[in-house]
Parts: sequence; structure tokens; C-alpha cells
Amino acid sequence: MYKPIEVNKDTYWLGVNDHETDKFESLWPLPQGVAYNAYAVIGTTATAAIDTVKGPYLDDYVGKLTQALGHRTLNYLVVNHMEPDHAGLISELKSVWPSLKFIGNAKTAPLLKGYHGITEDVITVKDGDTLDLGGHVLRFFTVPMLHWPESMVTFDTTTGVLFSNDSFGGFGAHEGGIFDDQKNPERWEDEMLRYYACIVGKYSNIVQVALKKLGALPITNIFPSHGTLFRKDIKKVISLYDKWSRYEGENGAVVVYGTMYGNTRKMAEAVCTGLNSSGVKDVRLYDAARTDASYILRDIWKFKAFALLACTYNTTLFPPMEALCSKLLNRMPKNKIVGIAGSYSWSKGALTALQEYAEKSKLQLVEPEVEVYTSPTAEDLEKLCELGANMGALIVNE
Ligand code: FEO
Repeated sequence: MYKPIEVNKDTYWLGVNDHETDKFESLWPLPQGVAYNAYAVIGTTATAAIDTVKGPYLDDYVGKLTQALGHRTLNYLVVNHMEPDHAGLISELKSVWPSLKFIGNAKTAPLLKGYHGITEDVITVKDGDTLDLGGHVLRFFTVPMLHWPESMVTFDTTTGVLFSNDSFGGFGAHEGGIFDDQKNPERWEDEMLRYYACIVGKYSNIVQVALKKLGALPITNIFPSHGTLFRKDIKKVISLYDKWSRYEGENGAVVVYGTMYGNTRKMAEAVCTGLNSSGVKDVRLYDAARTDASYILRDIWKFKAFALLACTYNTTLFPPMEALCSKLLNRMPKNKIVGIAGSYSWSKGALTALQEYAEKSKLQLVEPEVEVYTSPTAEDLEKLCELGANMGALIVNE
């Protein structure tokens, strides 16, 4: 028996935990699973579901929604976002409740048609429009490119609940409680930041616009479409989003290396030593070939500085480092301090490629840039230590 959870007045959580999908978007690992949160608001004159869940969870979702409705029919589906992890069951809902109407904005309509062939019973709302359910008035706010063009959020003006869709979301399935006051923050904060860095971070400037736009609302709860539901410390999660979208880093550094035989790892360890010597205690050393990029991106977002060190492979950058640089250029984190170093044996290439990355990144590049032939000498290691120390000085003195 699937049971909805009442999460506010007349408001129900219909979400599901997914422990089957190994990679979100077929890209990002889910060692703790992922939750697709969806909701229903039951008014006195009309009922509305806020988003659906991913396709395979039809029975679970519809079972919960049916119970939340009781003897009532479903009048509206608010489509905050058309990505299939939230819009997966739209066609099925129309089969179960044929009089259902869809609420979206002008950018939602073509996606509804494309994914589901739906062109009828679509109500197009504009930014700030409302829907009265009787006892609950929903107000819709468009947040284009956060992170799709049709993305919007829904605010219940009666309860103060913000149904924020992907914003404020995180990886990780629920493990018992679904609310922030039922979980240890250490359990959700890292996975929320990893989600931010991978999915939302590219659009940080738009997060800033959205925070200003929604900032005046009397928000009591933030219910995202993934991860923890926030009812206890709303200010904290808003300030986290503000910090991450302003690229405000903590005092610490990420050192990433790509190596085939361990020589470039020795170089990276020397950079870590230099960072430590300047008083930087939070240093994270990662092997680009063995640590999934999502964890590296998460920590690059978290801290003020990062160093990239790689060997040359077939005259250019070692492929796992090349892939990481591509992901970084796609997201363009700002306000970071960066250091680079390359190694080679029969052909140079890595350092030149890292220099090209650093130029495109528009980040503050720290000297010295170090290039090592075969295995690092004592002098090379000293230079790399100096690079770490210089980065550290900028971190702690900023
Ligand atoms: Fe969770 Fe953009 O879908």
C-alpha cells in the first residue's frame, strides 16, 4: 500500500526513492540513490498535483496521489519542469483522470507536445499568475534556464510552501525522514552541493536573479523535486544557494592529477605540501582517472582554489583530465584560484593544453606553471611546493 505523507496543510508528498538508476542523466553516480519528490495540494474547490515522477514508478505515484485525493478527481497538473524525471507520467495521468488540465508556461507547450503529444487542455500561465483551488491560491513564477527554458516554481500563498522544482534539490534517496529536521545536515549538504555543481551551477547567474525575484515572498517551506524537504531552517538553504551561486569558496583547495605511472601524483602531493605549508588545512587530492568528476566538481565549487596536474598522452592531455577540463569549461565556475602543471616523456602537450584551459577559464592563474620531464627531480618538487604555497597564501589572505 502506497501512502502519501501530509507535509503541510492539505499538502501531500507523493515522491519515490530510486535505488535502481546507477547514474543520474546517465552521467552522475548515485551511490545513495535519488528521490523524485512530487506533491498534491487539495483545495476545497479543486485539486492539483505538482509535477509527477520518473516513468517506472507509476504504481507508487498514482497510488499515493489517489489516496491524497480521497473521493475527489484530479483537476490540474502543474508542470513546473518537463525533464522526464518529473514529467515521466504526464500521459498516464491523463488516462487515469481524463478531464485533467495541464498548467505550464509558453515554453512548456512545445515540450508537452514533443514528449507526450499533448496539445489540448493546456493552460498557459505567465509569471505571477495565480490558480485558486479554494483555500489555497497557487502563484507561478517562471525561472527560465534554471535549468531548462520552461522551468518554473509554484508558491502556495496560503501555506507559504515554495515548490521549487530542481532548485534546492540534491542527490540521495530519503532514508526514513524526508524533512531537514529529520536528517543530519552532513548527510544531505554534500549531495546537495554535488547536485548543484553538476546540474544547476552552470546557471548560477540565473540563480541570483531568481533569489532576488523570490526573496520578498513569505516562504515557510521549500519543497524541491529531489532530496530533502526544508521546513526548519529555510534561511540556511537560501544562504547556501546564495553562496554557491556567487562562487564564494571556503578556505581550502582541490588538487587533481592524471597519471599513468605515479609520477604526476608525486607532483600533486608536492603541491598539497605547499598548500599545507601556507596554513591551508582543507586539501582534497583526487585522481582524475579514479574519482568521478561529480565529486571533483563539487569540491571545486566548495573551495577557493584548485590545481590541475596531468601527464601527456598521445601528444596531448591525459584523457580523464581532458574530460574534467571540458566539464569545467561547460560550467565556468568563477572567483577561483587555479594552478597548473604538466609532465611528459617523448612528447610535450599536457601543460600547453592546461594553459589553454586556464586561459579559457578566465580564472586567476598562480605561478609557477611547472613542466616536468619523466619523473620529478628534487628541484621540480620544490617548484611544485612553491606553487602550492603561493596558492595557499592567496587562499588564506584573501
Ligand atoms: Fe530533476 Fe531537471 O530534472
